[in-house]
Amino acid sequence: MSDTAVAPANSMPRTIDPRAFRTALGRYPTGVAVVTALDAAGRPVGMTINSFASVSLEPPLVLWSVQRTTPSSEAFRKAPRFAICVLAADQEDMALRFARTDENKFRDLTVETGLGGLPLIPGALATFECRTWAVYPGGDHEILVGEVEQLSTRPGAPLGFHGGRLLAFDTPQD
Ligand SMILES: Cc1cc2nc3c(=O)[nH]c(=O)nc-3n(C[C@H](O)[C@H](O)[C@H](O)COP(=O)(O)O)c2cc1C
Repeated sequence: MSDTAVAPANSMPRTIDPRAFRTALGRYPTGVAVVTALDAAGRPVGMTINSFASVSLEPPLVLWSVQRTTPSSEAFRKAPRFAICVLAADQEDMALRFARTDENKFRDLTVETGLGGLPLIPGALATFECRTWAVYPGGDHEILVGEVEQLSTRPGAPLGFHGGRLLAFDTPQD
């Protein structure tokens, strides 16, 4: 048995140390995606995320969460559509490009075009083109739920995120 403390039933909620919280979340390996949209002026926006998750099969719904104060959040909250582009193991450069604030993250990048002009990241293992279905409050994040309108997949191994680090999964799917 480890020295894990178990809170007694009916106890008051404990204050969770943010560093311990991050460390515990880091024990859960995820994939990595770039979510894209068009802002109100029709400019492409994109950011790297690992909060992507499936929600419902019928209707087909997915979700991700965006930090409220990050510069791209307003564009995503207001966009009628967004696309989730699941990155391949060899797309670490793409993950880093879209993980920092920059007026033009799409510089020198030739994108594919999806429904309603959505910019799609070339080489992604899976692309979910979504209509924004709901936006829910989630503390310092907002939860965006999308209804999948179109999707594509291609063979390959995925990029992963574990313990705060990007890594290449060596489990190619076809
Ligand atoms: C692996 C990884 C996963 C991330 N996941 C999220 C996420 O799910 N939601 C989020 O708001 N930011 C996430 N970020 C941080 C954003 O990519 C980063 O803050 C980016 O600069 C946001 O774009 P913006 O500056 O244009 O608003 C993640 C970063 C990395 C490297």
